[in-house]
Amino acid sequence: MNSKVNDIKALFNEKLSSVSSSQQVEELRVEFLGKKGLVAELMSELKNIPNEEKKEFGRIINVLKQEIEQTVSEKRTAILEAEQQKIIDSAEQYDESLPYEIKTGSYHPITLVQRDLERIFTSMGFSIENYSEIVDDYHCFEALNIPKHHPARDMQDTYYLSTENQLLKTHTSAAQNAIMKKYGAPLRAIFPGRCFRNESTDACHENTFFQMEGIMIDKDISISNLIYFMKTMLSEVFQKDVTVRLRPGFFPFVEPGFELDIKCLNCGGEGCPSCKNSGWLELCPCGMIHPNVLSHGGIDPEEYTGFAFGLGLTRLAMMKYGVKDIRTFNSGSLKALSQFKNE
Ligand code: PHE
Repeated sequence: MNSKVNDIKALFNEKLSSVSSSQQVEELRVEFLGKKGLVAELMSELKNIPNEEKKEFGRIINVLKQEIEQTVSEKRTAILEAEQQKIIDSAEQYDESLPYEIKTGSYHPITLVQRDLERIFTSMGFSIENYSEIVDDYHCFEALNIPKHHPARDMQDTYYLSTENQLLKTHTSAAQNAIMKKYGAPLRAIFPGRCFRNESTDACHENTFFQMEGIMIDKDISISNLIYFMKTMLSEVFQKDVTVRLRPGFFPFVEPGFELDIKCLNCGGEGCPSCKNSGWLELCPCGMIHPNVLSHGGIDPEEYTGFAFGLGLTRLAMMKYGVKDIRTFNSGSLKALSQFKNE
């Protein structure tokens, strides 16, 4: 028995010296310590030796087993370390003393315009509201005085979700009802947001764009308030006095409704390519909130009046920064989009 133990020890040491990978360590472990390994085989021979020697040999085999276990585990650790070191050594070398440039990110031009407007409107007492991009038919259309089958819906075809009655909002006006219900009157709020329409894209049209809606509701609000706020806001955005004009415009949720134009900042009204020679640029649909819309929002139209406007944020960013193609904004092109800095 003793000689067998010595033979196993010698064999183990011999094999150990040629082990050089973690896989070989594992093979060695199985060969000696596995269920059918040499140590287990030796254990099974215990039954053949005389009873009085069993105890002593049992002990000897256990010591052998522990020694092998310990050696295997040490070898495994050493090999793993060596293998890792090898990976590190073979990795690409770099020279940490080489000079490098740290580039800071920049804001998206729409974010810049949005923040600018938020600053201006909060200074005039407006709160900023957030509203989801997925809405239902009621909020996007019916609460805004656009019943089912109304032709005004044709202008705002959008993406309907498979969940019943849910769609991607076509305009920020979709938030009007919820905000009126939440705060009641008097109320001053702006709510920027991403809007979606089923449009074919070209230099002036995108299926995904940004608007900023604003509403002001109080006693005796009139069109002069609307013009005042729009003029103040635009002069701040463009950092110069802007001339505005109102033309009639139709939106079922305002009465009267307008298209607000600004005198072209490029040519001062003379006519140039960017205003299509008209001297004016269409910027912001707006109007006095329709009494039905106030009623839907739980506000008494006999007591309160208000105005609403839907500023095209994307359009404003195009004007402010001279971006010619609307598709630039969603292009993800860092070359194009990282040029804009907040003044
Ligand atoms: N929601 C309208 C649109 O996107 C714009 C608008 C807003 C018009 C508020 C009037 C008042 O076309």
